[in-house]
Amino acid sequence: MFVGDLSDGDLRIAKAISKISIPTAVMLGNHDRGNDGCGNVLRAQLDLLGEKVCSWDLSKWKLDSLSVVGARPCSGGGGFFLTPEVKAVFGQVELNVSVNRIVSAAKSAPGSVPLLILAHSGPVGLGSEASSLCGRDWKLPSMDWGDKDLGLALDQIRKFRIPELVVFGHTHHQLRIGGNRTRKTFARDIWGTSYLNAACVPRRGIDSTGQNLCHFSWIEFTKGSLTHVSHRWFRKDASIAYEEILFPE
Ligand SMILES: [Fe+2]
Repeated sequence: MFVGDLSDGDLRIAKAISKISIPTAVMLGNHDRGNDGCGNVLRAQLDLLGEKVCSWDLSKWKLDSLSVVGARPCSGGGGFFLTPEVKAVFGQVELNVSVNRIVSAAKSAPGSVPLLILAHSGPVGLGSEASSLCGRDWKLPSMDWGDKDLGLALDQIRKFRIPELVVFGHTHHQLRIGGNRTRKTFARDIWGTSYLNAACVPRRGIDSTGQNLCHFSWIEFTKGSLTHVSHRWFRKDASIAYEEILFPE
């Protein structure tokens, strides 16, 4: 799963993802919109990615043990706002329409397997501190910078099922102001839905021995239940160099 902000519209990334042969679900981020005003860069990425994209829809990936529903594409968080590029490609989608699309996609997911919601920005309601999962950390005052439509959609989805997990990116782990602090990246609500912020930026680094590392947020389900969530940094040979276990706590 890709949580978006792949690039600023560099088609090489979308091309590389389109060639992945294992089940893949992609949510594009605000940076992926391309900033061209007319949506051509965004459209080109969507064309390349094809059915791997799950904006406002149930993912068509070929994995029958987990359903993935996509939220609103290219979100920049902060409530509800559509950029000119998103309007050019998807039209003037109103808040309630976006909510209904997410809820309808969740309704179409089979009830027999866990439901995961993939978004670029997480939902409102996860805290208003800079270090909250979707907290605004680049400007004072700190506030909840989550998506309003996703928060409202989750309220409605809960009436017929509890999503196991909501995964998103956008708000980077390293906080921009307030010293060398990092964000909270995992939470579980009172209904049993877990929330994972996967926005480790940059995702690639070098350890003290000079080895290349790559970050993945890692989730495991066992018999339909979420049993493991972590941030993992992998070496080039796929061995784990470091792991931060988030769940079970
Ligand atoms: Fe973003």
